Amino acid sequence: MEGSVTPGSALKVSRLAGALGAEVRGIALADVTAKDCDAIETLLHEHLVLFFPYQQLDVEGHVAFGRHFGPLDAHPNLNNPFTQHPEIFELAASHGGVADEWHSDITFQQNPALISILNMIKCPPVGGDTLWASAYAAYEALSPPLQELCEGLTALHDAAPHGKPELTAIHPVVRTHPSTKRKALFVNEHFTRRIVELSHSESGVLLDYLFSWISTPRFTVRYKWQAGTVAMWDNRCTQHFVLSDFTEQRIIQRVTVMGDTPVAAQPARWQPFTRLENAGATSRYDQQLNEHLGRTVTTLEDNSRGN
Ligand SMILES: [Fe+2]
Repeated sequence: MEGSVTPGSALKVSRLAGALGAEVRGIALADVTAKDCDAIETLLHEHLVLFFPYQQLDVEGHVAFGRHFGPLDAHPNLNNPFTQHPEIFELAASHGGVADEWHSDITFQQNPALISILNMIKCPPVGGDTLWASAYAAYEALSPPLQELCEGLTALHDAAPHGKPELTAIHPVVRTHPSTKRKALFVNEHFTRRIVELSHSESGVLLDYLFSWISTPRFTVRYKWQAGTVAMWDNRCTQHFVLSDFTEQRIIQRVTVMGDTPVAAQPARWQPFTRLENAGATSRYDQQLNEHLGRTVTTLEDNSRGN
């Protein structure tokens, strides 16, 4: 795979790790055709995250490149420090302030991000690498009983990391990618709060396991940035993590291709598990899920007010 040339094109593709990731050279993203973008999308389905070093992409060029893959959205909760463009999400960080938890982008929305395209504007000489994990590899390496259990489950996601826990969505724990038809694990430590069909404590144990599982080194690739590198990843089958180990400025600009509701590998096999009767102190753990589901439960506070 090292340095392979895609037939019929000038693209030179170098695979970076066993599970996912490839560097692509021989193309200027500021000047791509629809046919080039079809070839790039095919590579993305194969490698899950692509890196294009030595690009010169301004804000307009970045947005134009992103629009080849679908409608774009800026970040729903965070504001840009420098650039006023409705379809760009910009993040300037030093001394932390990056997403150093595994996640795929914006999963608290009913239609989470499909594809994210990041332009590295400025990066520290050392630190601030990003890791990606293959959610296909993580799913495929689970034992059959755990695969079967996870396929029958859904999970509640929220925007608590952005200070908005009231923004919630429920997604399948295992989703089928609409193009590749492969199954991918779709819970992440940043935005996923609760398995809907399990009790709060059971959910905690399973989610802790799955969050740790997806970060297994053999499912991952780690990338060291240079200014001018553009990365493009498929949020339907990957998660990523930014290392918060730098002190100098790191500025990224990102566009996000939106529009897809996750397709469950199997329908949920059980009803949501929250206690509706004889609820006690532990029912507070069900409160967020009950609110999302529109369920009304008598709480400990309600009872104490009545006594
Ligand atoms: Fe992210």
